[in-house]
Amino acid sequence: KEIFLRDYKAPDYAFEKVDLKFELGEEKTLVTSNIRVLPKSSGAPLILDGDSSLKLVTLKINGSSVPEEDFKITPRKLHLTSLPTGPFELEIVTEIEPQNNTSLEGLYKSSGNFCTQCEAEGFRKITYYQDRPDVMSKFTTRIEADKALYPVLLGNGNLIEEGDLTDGKHYAVWEDPWTKPCYLFALVAGQLVSRDDTFTTMSGRKVVLRIWTPPQDIPKTDHAMKSLINSMKWDEEVFGLEYDLDLFNVVAVPDFNMGAMENKSLNIFNSRLVLASPETATDSDYAAIEGVIGHEYFHNWTGNRVTCRDWFQLSLKEGLTVFRDQEFSSDMGSRGVKRISDVSRLRISQFPQDAGPMAHPVRPQSYIKMDNFYTVTVYEKGAEVVRMYQTLLGKEGFRKGMDLYFQRHDGQAVSCEEFMAAMFDANDAKFPTFPLWYAQAGTPILTVTTSYDADAQSFTIKCKQEVPPTAGQPQKEPMLLPLAVGLLDSQGNDMRLSSVKDGASLHNLSSSDGDFTTTAVLHVDKAEQEFTFLGITEKPVPSLLRNFSAPVRLVSDVTDDELFFLLAHDSDQFNRWEAGQTLARKLMLDLISKQQKGEELNVNSAFIEGIRSTVTNSSLDKEFVAKCMSLPGESEIADLMEVADPDAIHTVRRFVIKQIAASLREELLSTVEENRSSAAYDPSHEHRARRSLKNISLSYMASLNEPEITELLVNEYKNATNMTDQVSALAALCQNPGDARSQALSDFYDQWKEEALVMNKWLALQAMSDVPGNVEHVRSLLEHPAFDIRNPNKVYSLIGGFCASAVNFHAKDGSGYKFLADIVLELDKLNPQVASRMISAFTRWRRFDEERQALTKAQLERIKSQDGLSDNVFEIASKSLAS
Ligand code: ARG
Ligand code: ZN
Repeated sequence: KEIFLRDYKAPDYAFEKVDLKFELGEEKTLVTSNIRVLPKSSGAPLILDGDSSLKLVTLKINGSSVPEEDFKITPRKLHLTSLPTGPFELEIVTEIEPQNNTSLEGLYKSSGNFCTQCEAEGFRKITYYQDRPDVMSKFTTRIEADKALYPVLLGNGNLIEEGDLTDGKHYAVWEDPWTKPCYLFALVAGQLVSRDDTFTTMSGRKVVLRIWTPPQDIPKTDHAMKSLINSMKWDEEVFGLEYDLDLFNVVAVPDFNMGAMENKSLNIFNSRLVLASPETATDSDYAAIEGVIGHEYFHNWTGNRVTCRDWFQLSLKEGLTVFRDQEFSSDMGSRGVKRISDVSRLRISQFPQDAGPMAHPVRPQSYIKMDNFYTVTVYEKGAEVVRMYQTLLGKEGFRKGMDLYFQRHDGQAVSCEEFMAAMFDANDAKFPTFPLWYAQAGTPILTVTTSYDADAQSFTIKCKQEVPPTAGQPQKEPMLLPLAVGLLDSQGNDMRLSSVKDGASLHNLSSSDGDFTTTAVLHVDKAEQEFTFLGITEKPVPSLLRNFSAPVRLVSDVTDDELFFLLAHDSDQFNRWEAGQTLARKLMLDLISKQQKGEELNVNSAFIEGIRSTVTNSSLDKEFVAKCMSLPGESEIADLMEVADPDAIHTVRRFVIKQIAASLREELLSTVEENRSSAAYDPSHEHRARRSLKNISLSYMASLNEPEITELLVNEYKNATNMTDQVSALAALCQNPGDARSQALSDFYDQWKEEALVMNKWLALQAMSDVPGNVEHVRSLLEHPAFDIRNPNKVYSLIGGFCASAVNFHAKDGSGYKFLADIVLELDKLNPQVASRMISAFTRWRRFDEERQALTKAQLERIKSQDGLSDNVFEIASKSLAS
């Protein structure tokens, strides 16, 4: 059943207080829920959500059983009628079986421990409840369990009582003083130990911090703890936001559908986003942990203290919190490099979504299953929308808006309008077309043409914007795009920009440096519009959309020569990288059409020289250089083609890499020599940057497939002292089938078979391989002891990894498509959320040639017609098939 934003109605009943009791057991778990209910309009039925797996044991109102004629149970609801007109006590006892819950939502078991995941709608798998975020209540939780099996009992808020019971059991009572929706409820019980630390807030509150894991993993929680402390400090310094309880718990669990969850004072994490040691985790793992620990902590204000009115508003908390974690990571490491990674991610994942059958606005207008809308659009594009407020209003203006938002809405469940109003009201700003960012799907195309008038000493930028049609939205309106622009003089320096004409009005530009700026933010809000900079004394090279100031596809008349100039000189680090990427995209698309016509391929020397001068420029940040060397990914190129041709794209990308490697052989070799790691691992930016430059150089050299280089790679592999270097060398060796590859893979397995998180890397490396016919090998890995279809991380590594190899997933014989469909159907019976994430690899099927379309369509139809299909998978399959 499809749910629509326009049907929102406030609830008829408020829940003032909820007392929960959990009697955890091996065969069954009893949940007693005592709710103080406040009717807001008399006579309405009270309709509670409840999954069909719930067994109702007793149902009482004010202490007496509800007569049978006054309630009705349907597969998804409990309807109550003939209710008291004043406040009353509702007591519901349900029985559940967490040990058999493979969906990993609601209450379930992971490695023998009990844990929960309630967002978005998992609480209804625990008990009957108004499972919606605008029902906020004060919760207490009493947990009873066997003391030997479950020595640690955790809930939200403060521990107010604990003790022993008969039969070897014990109990704990937790009280959360803050009102919250049930999606923030959490419970953990099991054999866990903690790493403890403290943080003293700016107003002097001493907070105990605990990270809980199985005993053997405690040494791997050091980085997560440091990240948590840094997050708490950062939120105080940047936003003046302080933690509001005396205890903050983080629990790492191996079986978890998503990354992590911001339950009030009891965050639950996928272990891969908590556990790290230099030997077992890579630099990217370290960075991901820092970012997600920050993200979940930041939710305490943006999500928990101010929450969402309904799930359509998800981006209110997620877009904002992703923006906050991006800013945090930028301040901890390198801002320019972080921006490049975030934009790459947006372009690789979100742009295709926005152009496909699952395209939806940042605030969706309808859904069948909310879990399908925890998307890169809601999260990453949502973060770009938040970033645009900051670009338009300035950092200080943005902070004023945040302050007003909390001043107005602390303790409330609100919608995206409230956030926007706070931003605008705090700054006295009016941007009438900005709200369209929440309503219109599709990536805007911004076309820019420029001209210099030497006589008038003016430089004109002509803009055209167009938002493409998407499913259900044939017509779009222009919307406000902040376009950040700099102009470079012939020396490559930024010109001073002091005034710009926009139609009839003249704007003076200023900044903290004086009555000029070097980056002007143009407000593009019409279908066609012109801006003219005055006082421009020579023909400039324009640097457009600096720092990716709006999430658009930019098409411009900047020439290749100008792009090379920008690559060498732009003061905006993002645009400097982007100039190289634009050149690479052009080159690759050109080579692809040659390849398709059977013409000879060659890479022009200007491109190679551009890369050479970047690689040899010692004044540049090394991680930035590594980014500049990385070519646009295969999926990014596929997204730019009329009909995606995975084989041609792959051939061309490999060809370009090989050409670069052959031409820069000496430079790459000395880069490797000069950037080897010191023995002790240091996760700081400087050291991470050295490793990234060394490792991309190794990977380029590997493309040459020469015995001498294989020997070098084997040595790098053997001498590695940390996982970043070890797995990079292994990945480089894996590019070329042969003895060295097999030997390294089997050594790696022997060394790490006891470490589940490292085994995920081992699975992913083999699954992602472009070796032809790899599908059979991946099928055989399904039976390998290192794989387990019930563990989401393993599925994402093996199945997700396989889909990432376009040549194998899109194999012309349809073997990849059949493989994925088989797995989706098997997964759907166990875990619909994971099945739904996997089937998403099919959504872009119309981008391929007719034969491939027919093959994919057949698999999608096969899935869709399956009996007992989950709503999750049904929604993706049916929307993908709809034209
Ligand atoms: N709120 C969590 C986060 O982004 C994600 C929860 C995802 N849950 C889901 N069922 N999709 O931090
Ligand atoms: Zn989040």
